[in-house]
Amino acid sequence: MKRIGVIGAGVMGLGVTQSMAAHGHEVVLVDVDEAALDRVRQRLASDARLARLLGVETAEVDPSLVHLTTDLSALDDVDFVVENITEKWHLKAALYPRLDDVCRPDVVIAANTSAISITRLAGLTRRADRILGMHFMNPVPVKPTVEVIRGWHTSDDTVDTALGLLGAIAKRGVVVADAPGFVSNRVLMLTVNEAVYLVQDQVATAAEVDEIFRSCFGHPMGPLETADLIGLDTILYSIDVLHESFSDSKYRPCPLLRRMVDAGLHGRKSGQGFYSYN
Ligand SMILES: NC(=O)c1ccc[n+]([C@@H]2O[C@H](COP(=O)([O-])OP(=O)(O)OC[C@H]3O[C@@H](n4cnc5c(N)ncnc54)[C@H](O)[C@@H]3O)[C@@H](O)[C@H]2O)c1
Repeated sequence: MKRIGVIGAGVMGLGVTQSMAAHGHEVVLVDVDEAALDRVRQRLASDARLARLLGVETAEVDPSLVHLTTDLSALDDVDFVVENITEKWHLKAALYPRLDDVCRPDVVIAANTSAISITRLAGLTRRADRILGMHFMNPVPVKPTVEVIRGWHTSDDTVDTALGLLGAIAKRGVVVADAPGFVSNRVLMLTVNEAVYLVQDQVATAAEVDEIFRSCFGHPMGPLETADLIGLDTILYSIDVLHESFSDSKYRPCPLLRRMVDAGLHGRKSGQGFYSYN
């Protein structure tokens, strides 16, 4: 496997690109937004400088390995695709049939979605056996484990191909069956949502909620710091997906979360969420 297609140049697309390129894979990174590609260009350059400076083992990327483009047809010669676009069903639903036309029929397409059913995505294509979920953790270059999701029709060969690629970038996969939110986000999103309710209901401040999770439970980060890292928009869209998929009111998004997203407070990537990053 040499040439990897990565779609979506946001938080996750950047991380997946860094991890692939750091292990010698060529990456074709596609986004509809030129500004997102520019941000990646700058980040790859500054991260490589920082890694060299600190001597740390983060991805030091040869920029010539990464091709940035807004042209989806550049994926016609890739060997594997990781899709990381915005967590909105209508956007993914418009993309998958186009990918099916552009990519070679043998190419595996991995959805790095937080909550959307892999079987539902696979139903948009003519290659349901070659679609699976690869739920990378954020920040991708430092997280060793990936939740790998087998859809209804996903073949053993597809799972083996994905696990092989993960091995080649020094990660391992834990394979689970398909259900909205899989294992990780079915639990995490409820936790984050309930933590936002605690702040909305003035039971505690965000810092106090996080302190309890860090100090009492030994978690490295509290749920609201985690939400800022993931992106509050991505959190909200994922909870919306869970709510719609399960038709269960326990996944109703907290109104404060929706208000913050509407106000442009998207967490670290926007400079402001439950905490300030300016
Ligand atoms: N943020 C996380 O911690 C995290 C973790 C695991 C999985 N995910 C999932 O990864 C995916 C991306 O999340 P993110 O946090 O990187 O989002 P993001 O908002 O940071 O980036 C999404 C990118 O997708 C681009 N995009 C939208 N539609 C597109 C299209 N049709 N073609 C090409 N590019 C398109 C946008 O321009 C944007 O640059 C989502 O499905 C999310 O649920 C996120």
